[in-house]
Amino acid sequence: MTGLSASSAANAVDSTGVGPRHVAIIMDGNGRWAKRRFLPRVAGHRAGAEAVRKTVRAAADMGLQVLTLYAFSSENWRRTPGEVSDLMGLLRHYLRNEIEDLHRNGVRLTSIGDINGLDQDLVVLIEEGIRKTAGNSRLNFVLALNYGSQDEMVRAVRDIARAVADGRLAPDEIDVDAIESRLDTNGLPPLDLLIRTSGEKRLSNFLLWQAAYAELLFVDTLWPDFDGEKLAAAIADFGARERRFGGR
Ligand code: IPE
Ligand code: IPE
Ligand code: MG
Repeated sequence: MTGLSASSAANAVDSTGVGPRHVAIIMDGNGRWAKRRFLPRVAGHRAGAEAVRKTVRAAADMGLQVLTLYAFSSENWRRTPGEVSDLMGLLRHYLRNEIEDLHRNGVRLTSIGDINGLDQDLVVLIEEGIRKTAGNSRLNFVLALNYGSQDEMVRAVRDIARAVADGRLAPDEIDVDAIESRLDTNGLPPLDLLIRTSGEKRLSNFLLWQAAYAELLFVDTLWPDFDGEKLAAAIADFGARERRFGGR
């Protein structure tokens, strides 16, 4: 990949109009980053939180509209209780320390996933952050927390089933819009670019519906080594692609 600077990527987003509006990242590789340094996994997660800070700042500076980060999956509860508690502790620390800064930067925070499955104090912190930054119009930073695409679709289907059972929706009225409007991503622009770090080439239950026509980019960088320059390089890679959406 090219060593494109953050400012030239800003041009890619702003002036040519071909840049992505919505970028999502599967932030993977914290554990391996720590292992390579003979450190405990939590040290990798801590470094990962720093990479989040840098990447969000860069995304806002580039004029990106939406950045969705996969922070905790609905399957990550399968990790050891110690690691789950470390991750929740870091999330708590991040929200307490960064929301003010995000707000000062004009960043709007929102979330996808079933946040009610998190500890109550985290739910409060997230909801406060969302409320506080609701009027901001620079980057929309979407945190995927306790998110799983299959869980999201199950919740949407249940909502549709209730509407049909109540006679508010006819089966023949169920279309793409009826489904999309019930997904957690309702109201966000279509996903343009989906990046996964750490060299793994799978989606791990992330934005399966939304990725229908997204460009996919798998990079070897471990998440703690990701930053604005790596994001700029990913956006440059996206800019060189031809999207077809089934047309020719
Ligand atoms: C990503 O890093 C962080 C989360 C999934 C929360 P990992 O913890 O999955 O790191 P690896 O994949 O073991 O290296
Ligand atoms: C995906 O990474 C989840 C997040 C980045 C939050 P995982 O490390 O949990 O995915 P798998 O287990 O390798 O598929
Ligand atoms: Mg992983």
